[in-house]
Amino acid sequence: MRRSFADDVRDGLQKSQKELQPWYFYDSLGSALFAAICELPEYTITRAETEIFRLNNTTIARAFGSPERIVELGSGDAHKTRQLLEAVITRQPRLTYVPIDVDGDLLESTSRDLLVRFPSLRIDAICADYRDIASLISAGPKTVFLFFGSSIGNLDPDAAAALLREIRRILGRGDSLSVGADLQKPKEVVEPAYNDALGVSAAFNLNLLARINRELGGHFDLSKFAHRAFLNEDKGRMEMHLVSRERQVVAIDSLSMQVSLEKSETIHTENSYKYAESDLDLLARDAGFAIEESWRDSRTGFIDMLMVAR
Ligand code: TRP
Repeated sequence: MRRSFADDVRDGLQKSQKELQPWYFYDSLGSALFAAICELPEYTITRAETEIFRLNNTTIARAFGSPERIVELGSGDAHKTRQLLEAVITRQPRLTYVPIDVDGDLLESTSRDLLVRFPSLRIDAICADYRDIASLISAGPKTVFLFFGSSIGNLDPDAAAALLREIRRILGRGDSLSVGADLQKPKEVVEPAYNDALGVSAAFNLNLLARINRELGGHFDLSKFAHRAFLNEDKGRMEMHLVSRERQVVAIDSLSMQVSLEKSETIHTENSYKYAESDLDLLARDAGFAIEESWRDSRTGFIDMLMVAR
């Protein structure tokens, strides 16, 4: 059984480096804020991937072969996926789409939209954490997995490798997994993407505390916390933290817990690894895939790869 929000908050806030798990970002407000992040001028990931799909959707659909099932990890509003689904359905109308997302409301509204747009599509939506993929999806018809955006970067390298191996076990030889990854870039480019002028990234990060207030009876005063996002060059990742602006003690009623924070102490909320192409190659090979094709956006900051099961 997956652990609950309450369990993870209790454990995370008792560690010496306090942490909250990033999949809890996505309640309804969090998903809406993330959709806003995707529109920000500073955040290039979503536009880059949208461009890749716009220019290459028929090539990508052809490379998928003729899957009977497309499984998407962390489907969100599936905006980018629509173009690909359209290209696949044009080649072959009998298709089942299996979106997996932790936000049940978004999953439902997205599925309804897609059914209106693609009446022949069958949708088996699953509201769950995709790290449980092995228990959610069984081996079956010819399948393509989609893992878009920079989600793979939100997993530590070991966890990313483990997830890819789980997916490989579900797939048959010759089936594919399409993965997006944000490529390494200079600090001056990558840091602003997580520190936008409008403050949406800050709101998205702070919403984790607001969610604890809403759902667990927390008493976090958001004005006493700051958003901090920086490139950790040694580890090759952006790190997101919430910084306590002063020494404080915060009660969380339903956990019967008091959280003490020093001035400047942080709660670590997410990592976003930026990949080198050679690392991606290794990651694919270790999990039993070969990268057969890849597409980069025109600014070459982002890559979508077709990993084929060997
Ligand atoms: N998955 C997104 C990423 O790694 C998450 C994200 C974008 C994020 N902007 C953020 C997380 C700002 C915290 C704060 O790009």
